[in-house]
Amino acid sequence: MTADFHLYLDSADLGELRACLPHPVVHGVTTNPTLLRRAGVSRAELPTLLRECLALGARQVQAQVQAADTEGMLDDARRLLAGFDPGQLVVKIPATRDGLRAGAQLSAGGHPVTYTAVYAPEQAHFAAMLGAAYAAPYLGRLEDSGIDGLGLIARMQALVAQTGAPTRLLVASVRSREAYLALLVLGVGAITIPPRLFPALLDHAATVEAERAFLADAQAMA
Ligand code: E4P
Repeated sequence: MTADFHLYLDSADLGELRACLPHPVVHGVTTNPTLLRRAGVSRAELPTLLRECLALGARQVQAQVQAADTEGMLDDARRLLAGFDPGQLVVKIPATRDGLRAGAQLSAGGHPVTYTAVYAPEQAHFAAMLGAAYAAPYLGRLEDSGIDGLGLIARMQALVAQTGAPTRLLVASVRSREAYLALLVLGVGAITIPPRLFPALLDHAATVEAERAFLADAQAMA
């Protein structure tokens, strides 16, 4: 049995993504309009970027709607989903009143949805009620605003688990290895990390040093 956990990379920068992918510990890539703007990716270029991520081994890619009303969100979602196999593209929708309406229709149609910008436990519970694949709270940003982010996410996790729904918390705004490990202890089902955190999780100095010594001994063996 393998661990039922999804690690995502949170980036729209192909250079950053190529430094990590392909890698079997990575489930997918999350994007949002802020990351796209920062990486200089236009609306028209987004499908190509998402396809490149899949070609790099991502099993799922996530892209966000860019409208604030339910119908606009659904139009955006249909445009995003066109050309991807079922389940490959997860539609990200802010967990607003309209967002929950749009997401519920998409989930009912069998499309995976992430409710994003989840700041309150009841929003995570609504995500589970509506059959979302993911609900994304932002740990670092919660803590920036003086909230006990881990405590709040623990409450969300308990509420989602209680529903029995397959919805996973997909924690974003994770800025350190310590935060990542604390979230694993809480039992969240998914975490998205900036690629700059990838080496801190994958490349441990003591392991690299042990390997170096083994390789030196292997060379010196009779
Ligand atoms: C999530 O979708 C964002 O990309 C993430 O929260 C950004 O993290 P930051 O708060 O460290 O900028």
